[in-house]
Amino acid sequence: MAKILIVEDDPLIGRTLQIRLARKGYEVVDCVSTGEEALSQAESKKPELILMDIGLKGALDGIQTAHQLRERGIPSVYLTANEDSHIFGRAKRTRPLGYILKPYEEEELYRTVELALYNHGVEVALQKREELIEDLNRSLENRVVERTRQLEEANQRIQGSLKEKEVLLMELHHRVKNNLQVICSLLRLQLGKLTDPNAAMVLKESQNRILSMAMVHQLLYQSQDMNHINFKTYLETLASHIFQSSDRDPQALSLVVEADEGYIDLVTAVPCGMIATELISNALKHAFPQNREGTLSVIFKLKDKNRVSLKVQDDGIGFPPNMDWRKSPSLGFSIVSSLCRQIDAVLDVKQAGETGTSFTLTFPLTAQPIASSF
Ligand SMILES: Nc1ncnc2c1ncn2[C@@H]1O[C@H](COP(=O)(O)OP(=O)(O)OP(=O)(O)O)[C@@H](O)[C@H]1O
Ligand SMILES: [Mg+2]
Repeated sequence: MAKILIVEDDPLIGRTLQIRLARKGYEVVDCVSTGEEALSQAESKKPELILMDIGLKGALDGIQTAHQLRERGIPSVYLTANEDSHIFGRAKRTRPLGYILKPYEEEELYRTVELALYNHGVEVALQKREELIEDLNRSLENRVVERTRQLEEANQRIQGSLKEKEVLLMELHHRVKNNLQVICSLLRLQLGKLTDPNAAMVLKESQNRILSMAMVHQLLYQSQDMNHINFKTYLETLASHIFQSSDRDPQALSLVVEADEGYIDLVTAVPCGMIATELISNALKHAFPQNREGTLSVIFKLKDKNRVSLKVQDDGIGFPPNMDWRKSPSLGFSIVSSLCRQIDAVLDVKQAGETGTSFTLTFPLTAQPIASSF
């Protein structure tokens, strides 16, 4: 049953209204004659609608009273004899749910009250929905804040463990490099004791093979990324080291290294460095007998986003006649062939008698993990 408060300073009109509304089944909670009384009764009896006269006794008129009640969530329907447009303009700003002019038709009263109650119901429902949405928004925001905090914490944990792993990996590369260097030192000590020049040459080559791996690990622990090395730096260091250890006369033989700036991962860099070591060693050992003059070139090129090429070329004496390098039983070319397979390299060999030899391997940058294949 809808509760209605009547504010009417004419007792007769007030009484009539009370009877008419009660007859229609509304609960009239009170009928008061001043704005002040209306405010206090509204507070205690919580009506859903006020039927409000405008001209009242007391300090507050009907419009001022309706304004205050509206702010407390209780709407009014004005019931007044005042036709003044200025008054109507003031009343409008209190967002009334009806404006009935006296004398009024009974039917008009019922319809206005019914519509007002219905509209008020819709207003309340909308307001509740808005509050619900605000609540949901707030709880959603809180959940987002909480989730963000959790993610930040998890991120910090991951960053921490990543840092730890990077340090471990750096330590690992450092140790591998040190151990390989210890092997090189042992070979050097043994080399000092050898009198046979052929045996000494074999040991020296083994030393270079191990050093080519040690250098990869050295560059890895010095690099930011811990997984890729600057292949230009690597090739320059490796080639000049092998050149110097070969005792070739730099006046007679020049070494040229031309390399693009490129980064190669550990899995590819180690086999690729070992192939380069074999090919450079071979050129120094076989292509320029009796201090023959010439040039040894090492060229590294980035072909496209995922393919690179490495060329080792000399202008020496070329392969011995009738030699098929693929069928050579020696260790050097066996190492080259099997490492080329390991990094999916296509090897192009050019030999033309006195004009020297050239080996070009083209390979992808993403290789399979190292598997022992020789
Ligand atoms: N750049 C080159 N110029 C001329 N001949 C070469 C060149 N590279 C290789 N050869 C020839 O191919 C042969 C096979 O080379 P390979 O590297 O397999 O063996 P190796 O150098 O003789 O010994 P090792 O197994 O210790 O490397 C060499 O003995 C040499 O005759
Ligand atoms: Mg060789």
